[in-house]
Amino acid sequence: MFRDSPFEDISSGQAASGCRIEIPKSSGLVIFGASGDLTRRKLIPAIYRLFRQRLLPRGFFVLGVARTEMDSARFRELMAAGLRETFPEECDETCWHNFSTLLHYRSIDYSDPESYRVNLAEVLPPLEKAADTGGNRIFYLATPPGVYEDVIGTLHRSGLATWPGTSVKLVIEKPFGNDLESSRRLNAILLAAFRESQVYRIDHYLAKETVQNILMFRFANSLFEPLWNRRYIDHVQITAAETIGIERRAGYYEEAGVLRDMFQNHMFQLLTLMAIEPPALFTAARVRDEKAKVLQSIRPFSLENLDDCVVTGQYARSVAAGLKGYREESGVASDSTVPTYAALKVWIDNWRWNGVPFYLRSGKRLKRRTTEIAIHFRPVPHMMFSQTMGGRIEANTLILQVQPDEGIHLEIQAKNPGSRMCLMPVSLDFCYPREISLSAYERVLLDCMEGDQMLFVREDGVELSWLLLTPLIEALAAREAVPRSFLYEAGSDGPAAAAALLEKDGRNWRSL
Ligand code: BG6
Repeated sequence: MFRDSPFEDISSGQAASGCRIEIPKSSGLVIFGASGDLTRRKLIPAIYRLFRQRLLPRGFFVLGVARTEMDSARFRELMAAGLRETFPEECDETCWHNFSTLLHYRSIDYSDPESYRVNLAEVLPPLEKAADTGGNRIFYLATPPGVYEDVIGTLHRSGLATWPGTSVKLVIEKPFGNDLESSRRLNAILLAAFRESQVYRIDHYLAKETVQNILMFRFANSLFEPLWNRRYIDHVQITAAETIGIERRAGYYEEAGVLRDMFQNHMFQLLTLMAIEPPALFTAARVRDEKAKVLQSIRPFSLENLDDCVVTGQYARSVAAGLKGYREESGVASDSTVPTYAALKVWIDNWRWNGVPFYLRSGKRLKRRTTEIAIHFRPVPHMMFSQTMGGRIEANTLILQVQPDEGIHLEIQAKNPGSRMCLMPVSLDFCYPREISLSAYERVLLDCMEGDQMLFVREDGVELSWLLLTPLIEALAAREAVPRSFLYEAGSDGPAAAAALLEKDGRNWRSL
């Protein structure tokens, strides 16, 4: 019975957890690169979790395509193994059995239109008819980026990008090029085949619950927005610290480094959401217009005085922590100068943010895993307590905590209970209950099926951030030698020069 109707026991419209999440439109999902890691470890587990939570539409199927020769039965086995590896606690045999009937596989030659005709154009209609997906097709590129051009071009040439009677979306993962020129080329290839409204460029940070909450928090509360400007904010610190190293991605990372890997996308996305003007409407177009305006207002980095705006570093072996250095990782050159850490000082030249520095830092193999935006307010203008208490009163800080726990914390001063007059810092905390959060891939897949582009990056967003970062990356690469403080111990706070970047301005990083 389940084979014909895997959704038989599923009541639509309500998530199992009880949270109200819209069930999106029926769709067929075609995954290019279906035999790869991303599909096995991220995409299929995310789709399976949506299925378990009853959040998939009734009409749904996955058609995996890749070069590897195998049949659908083998594909299902591989995907089951992937799920067992990544989420062993989620493996419910009956549920998996029902779910797996939605998975199909065809091998394909990425650059041959004839192969697309036989393995896609002729295979999709019967699957669509059986699942009643109304011709809604999503092509998801989970291939290495080197194949993007082939797949997009062949989809175009074979007519599948605009097939009559279908509505097609294309999902693509970073890297969107590796500098301004290559990102422009990729956008041109994409937009020769698809309209911008069909293209979903994923930045998985935008799908994190607290990141989405930045806009809600700012524009649905009257309390903070009046303070959200240079009059009340002293500076902003945005941190994405990781404890992991580069894992098995040396080939990619040696080309990318931290500025391409984390800043061009995630860090700049956090910065724009923090800094944007209120959009007139909460729609993808209006929000993305405002984000583009922030990127247009960022002052180009001063390439003559790199030390004033950027610090980079690379993790070195820690004997104490038993951690390898970056140059000892397999696949990394023994004299590599690729940065695994960067701290930037960014200025936004507009009316709201004039004179407010935004300090951004991200690195691998740091002491603690944390991603947060910390808004440091100005200190009180007059210290009326100085006679009784002396010292300085810590200014208020608002922390938008993205991970590991998602929440919002406001650090304020209160009187320490007792007879003596003294202050203590206290925190007003809001934490998201874990069980109601969707993972980033679950969110992204639902929004794409629904056709909501809010959490995806638009063409101009990609190019504007490359426009800022490409000259900086090139200037850093052209330096004769990396600074002496370049190496930092794995498991530490990062390079000492990063602390100096703020100390010069009389400020300090929040501790990790
Ligand atoms: C990816 C980067 O985009 O984001 C990785 O390529 C990084 O290097 C990862 O580790 C961090 O994502 P998250 O969600 O774990 O913070």
